[in-house]
Amino acid sequence: MAVGIFDSGLGGLTILDAVQARLPDVEFAYLADSANAPYGVRSADDIYDLTCAATQRLFDAGCDLVVLACNTASAAALRRMQEGWVPEGKRVLGVFVPLIEAMTERQWGDNSPPREVALKHVALFATPATVATRAFQRELAFRAIGVDVEAQACGGVVDAIEDGDFILAEALVRSHVDALKRKMPEPQAAILGCTHYPLMQDAFRDALGADVKVFSQADLVAESLADYLQRHPKMSGTGQGGFLTTGDPARVSTRATQFLRRPMSFTAA
Ligand code: DGL
Repeated sequence: MAVGIFDSGLGGLTILDAVQARLPDVEFAYLADSANAPYGVRSADDIYDLTCAATQRLFDAGCDLVVLACNTASAAALRRMQEGWVPEGKRVLGVFVPLIEAMTERQWGDNSPPREVALKHVALFATPATVATRAFQRELAFRAIGVDVEAQACGGVVDAIEDGDFILAEALVRSHVDALKRKMPEPQAAILGCTHYPLMQDAFRDALGADVKVFSQADLVAESLADYLQRHPKMSGTGQGGFLTTGDPARVSTRATQFLRRPMSFTAA
């Protein structure tokens, strides 16, 4: 019995950590497509093909439900997958919508027309591919009016994190926040729209300042998954939990252990 969690690399572990804490009785099978990370600099077609292949790997392992714990895949591939690829009896969910529902003060499945919300100026930090899709702005426009979103494509941050180079990652975060602030001097809230970025949360918070509310995508996704599994208890799947990577298992295990500060052991996908 396992729910699949997918990311291009280690960022999805920030989501895994939160869903495991929220759902301690559920098994999770995590797949990191480390051999092909980062996704954030790839074309939408490329991201779609890689995400379908990785999701299929988790279906083959017995998962009926796969969470794309990757904003880049959620933005560039999820809709296309749901429209024409996901096999009968299987489900694929993304990490975007729970965040936008929280920002726009909505309950799950509230499809009422867009309305005014408290937030007016929102900074979005995401990968170049996610920013290019404008998926965040599109989902937001379905639910809220009058929200000004300034998006900053944070080139290089995922590579630095995957390489374990936190000094470089921190310097890049500072420069991306500076660039954002030149375009939007006083954001009220910030979205860390890449699951790798919570690993640099302190750097984002320091650079943004105490007045900016930083939304925690991981907790919101955990809450929404708990709600989904309560409504669809059979979607917990038949496979076993564990950690798979398309990259070098020893290297990925070392980095993952470093990130989550608990022993993690990946095997070859
Ligand atoms: N962690 C991913 C995301 O949330 C992907 C980053 C990447 O592979 O570029 O966007």
